[in-house]
Amino acid sequence: MKTLKFAVLPGDGIGPEVMEVALDVLKNAGEKFGFALDYEHADIGGIAIDNHGVAFPDSTKTVCENSEAILFGSVGGPKWESLPPKEQPERAALLPIRKAFSLYANVRPGLLYPQLTDASPLKKERIPNGIDIVCIRELTGGIYFGQPKSTTTLENGEEQAIDTMVYKTSEIERIAQVAIDTAKARGGSVCSVDKANVLETSVLWRKVVTEYFAKHAPEIKLSHMYVDNAAMQLARDPNQFDVLFTENMFGDILSDEMGVICGSLGMLASASLGAEQNSLGFPFGLYEPSGGTAPDIAGQGIANPCAQILSAALMLRYSFGENEAAAAIEAAVEKAVTGGIRTGDIAFGLESVGTKEMGAAVLANL
Ligand code: NAD
Ligand code: IPM
Ligand code: MN
Repeated sequence: MKTLKFAVLPGDGIGPEVMEVALDVLKNAGEKFGFALDYEHADIGGIAIDNHGVAFPDSTKTVCENSEAILFGSVGGPKWESLPPKEQPERAALLPIRKAFSLYANVRPGLLYPQLTDASPLKKERIPNGIDIVCIRELTGGIYFGQPKSTTTLENGEEQAIDTMVYKTSEIERIAQVAIDTAKARGGSVCSVDKANVLETSVLWRKVVTEYFAKHAPEIKLSHMYVDNAAMQLARDPNQFDVLFTENMFGDILSDEMGVICGSLGMLASASLGAEQNSLGFPFGLYEPSGGTAPDIAGQGIANPCAQILSAALMLRYSFGENEAAAAIEAAVEKAVTGGIRTGDIAFGLESVGTKEMGAAVLANL
């Protein structure tokens, strides 16, 4: 029997709660579709600071290196917010793990089932058939990683902080290729989002994207939009987009907006992919919900596990080629949710269930 070897990094807050459910779903899928799981847990984020003194221990990196993929929860929370910024889980674990494995392409599918439109803050008339878009976010460049990045005290005693937004042609081209591949697979178009009326990086982004598409995919319809307008258009008429393609920070912000118009951040999965292949010849990837550790609901057993389950499905598809199992899990989530089993974030008037019950409903539909 085929064995899927992956690292399990639940992280903090709701991470462990939703991860447990996702693993149950994967086990069940393995029984149905004929694969075994060989996974190893490792600490990352705040829990790693508590247990090992650092947010991304070498031992965790080794577990990841010995795996074909990483299933990730989320990191961070109030407990670690008083640490120096560079030592906090987000900057000391999440960004480094993305960089360590060159995971430059973040794929976030924005899917709202037509039966779930009541969970979206958008009026039903605007999204009569739900939403089906995908955000391709550059993940290892831009203002998140550019140098210098520092806080200094000026001569007059006041403090000054600097972040630097940097992009080079090769970084833009490789993510443009991901946008092209995604659009081809969906038979769709690409809207590239930037701030080319102000930012040098965006002027370069727009030029490189335009030239790259003209040369490599002239058949794909490409448009450009400023990010402020894109934020507005997403709330006005999300389905005018097909592939929403953008740089790191804009993608972070727009994908949260995409999450809520698709019902909840708790439904939004993601895949972070790079150039590396695993030993099976599939892309090595990190799979994580787009949302965070949700400190406001952590520990209560009420978090929506669907984003984690759907991230696990993306892992099956991209890093293990288990397309049938992935599709079956996605269909099971859809059936459970549209059948009326919903956690509080998407319940809106319906009775809500807890994390475990939501997971059980997905299992029952698998
Ligand atoms: P968040 O995404 O954790 O929460 C925002 C809102 O969405 C909250 O009301 C939360 O309850 C809700 N939410 C998110 N996921 C949910 C789920 N699965 N089910 C139900 N509701 C859900 O964002 P935040 O509050 O800004 O950040 C909290 C912490 O998480 C911070 O430390 C932040 O840095 C971190 N964070 C980590 C990641 C990651 O590890 N990938 C991503 C985003 C935020
Ligand atoms: C995300 C998160 C992270 C990001 C944070 C926690 C560093 O918001 O994955 O969307 O900004 O990339
Ligand atoms: Mn985010």
